[in-house]
Amino acid sequence: MLRILKPNFFMSTFTENANHQNSDFIGIKLENVDNSFLPVKHLKKITKKNKKFFYPLALSSWGEEEYKSIIDQLQSGKLTMGDKVKEFELEFAKMTGCKHAIMVNSGSSANLLIIAALTLSENYDLNKGDEVIVPALGWSTSYSPLLQYGLKLRFVDININTLNIDENKITKAITNKTKAIFGINVLGNPMNFGILEKICNEHNLILIEDNCESMGAKYLTKATGTFGIAASHSFFFSHHIQTIEGGMITTDQDDISDYARCLRAHGWTRDLSNESDFRKIKINKFKEKYMFALPGYNLRPNELNAVTGLCQLKKFQSFMTTRKQNSINFKNLFSDESFCIIQESEHESSWLGFSIILNGPLTNKRSHLIYELEKAKIEYRPIITGNFLKNPVINYYDYSISENLNNTETVDNSGLYVGNYHCPLDSQISKLYEITKKLSKFY
Ligand SMILES: Cc1ncc(COP(=O)(O)O)c(C=O)c1O
Repeated sequence: MLRILKPNFFMSTFTENANHQNSDFIGIKLENVDNSFLPVKHLKKITKKNKKFFYPLALSSWGEEEYKSIIDQLQSGKLTMGDKVKEFELEFAKMTGCKHAIMVNSGSSANLLIIAALTLSENYDLNKGDEVIVPALGWSTSYSPLLQYGLKLRFVDININTLNIDENKITKAITNKTKAIFGINVLGNPMNFGILEKICNEHNLILIEDNCESMGAKYLTKATGTFGIAASHSFFFSHHIQTIEGGMITTDQDDISDYARCLRAHGWTRDLSNESDFRKIKINKFKEKYMFALPGYNLRPNELNAVTGLCQLKKFQSFMTTRKQNSINFKNLFSDESFCIIQESEHESSWLGFSIILNGPLTNKRSHLIYELEKAKIEYRPIITGNFLKNPVINYYDYSISENLNNTETVDNSGLYVGNYHCPLDSQISKLYEITKKLSKFY
C-alpha cells in the first residue's frame, strides 16, 4: 500500500551523492529509510541495479526535488494532464525559442503526431504514397509513423564520422515522388542544417527533425529541435532530461500545433485555442465538449511527468556542462587512435553517448571487446538500430535504397556505444580506453 508521507520527512530519507567518481556511484544515497514507503523501496532497487555496473549506460538524474515534486503533485490530487503540463510546455518553448511546444507521453508519440499532422492537414503536400528520405541509421519509431501513414521510405547512407545522414548524398536520392526529409540528430550530434535547408528550398521538400537524442545540441548558434517544420524530443530515462516517460513536439507552425493537440487527446477540439480553425466549426455548447475533428489517439502525458520535467529543466545546463566535460575527456583519449572511429561533431553536440567503430587492428574484433567490457562491468549497446534494414520489421515497409548503405553497414558490423550523462566519468572513460588500447596491442 502506498503511504503518503509529509514532504519534510521524505526529504530527510535520502541525499544526493556528490561523489560520483568511485565505482560505487549511483546518484542517490539512502539514509534511515522507511521501507514501507513505496518510492524509497523503488530507489533501493535502482541502487542495487546500478551497482552491477562500474560504467552503466545511464543513471537517474533525479534528486530530492523530483521526488518531492511528485509527492506534492500526488497530494494535490491533480494527476491527469493539466496546468503543470501547460507550464512545462511554456518553459520548454521559451528555452528552445520555438513558438509552440506540445508535450506527449514519449518521443515516439511526438514523431507519430508530427507525421500524422503533416499528412492529415491539407496545408502540406505530404500524402499516402509519397516518398520520404531517411537515414538508414535511426530508431524504430523514427520510421514507423511513416509506414503507418502510408509513406514510402527512401534510405540514404550515413556519414561514418558524424553518424548522421550523409547530407551530400541526399540530392542524388531525390525522385519525383520525394516530398520530405526526415532527419535524425544521432547521439547528440546536430545534422548539417545549412545543407539540409538548402536542399529542401531547392527541391520544395519538407524538413522534419527527430531530436529525441539531442536536446541541448546546437547548429551554429541555433538549438537543434528548432529546424524544419517540426521536431520531436524524448525525455526517457537515458536522455538529457528524464520525466519517467515523456516527449515534446516543437514547431513554429500554428496549424501543426493545433493538429498535434487535437490528435494527442482523442481527436477532440476542446484543448485548442478559440483562434484555431477547428474551433470555428459552429456547434452548441453542450456538444462542444465532445467534438471530434481528427482520427486521434490518447498520447497525453500526465502531471507527474510535467513536474519532474520542470525540475529537470532547472538542472539542465549543469547536466550539459558535465556531459561536455566527459566528451572532452573521451575525445582526448580516443580521437587520435587508429583502432577506432569516434563520432565527430562539426557543430555543438550534446553527447548522448560515446560511439566507437572498431577499425585497423580491431576490425572484426567487437565480440572480443564486448567480452572485455563485460568483465570490466562496462555497459554497452549497438549504435541504435545499426542498419535498420537488417531488422525483421523491415518486411512491413515499402522502401527503396539510394546508392548503397556501406557506412551504415560498417556501423552495424563494428560499432557500439557507451553512456554519457550528468556525472563525471573520468575513471570510467579511462578504464574503457585502457581496455580498448590493450586489446588493440594484442592484435
Ligand atoms: C532517434 C530516436 N527517436 C525516437 C525515440 C523514441 O523516444 P521514446 O523512447 O521517448 O519513445 C528514440 C528513443 O530513444 C530515439 O533514439
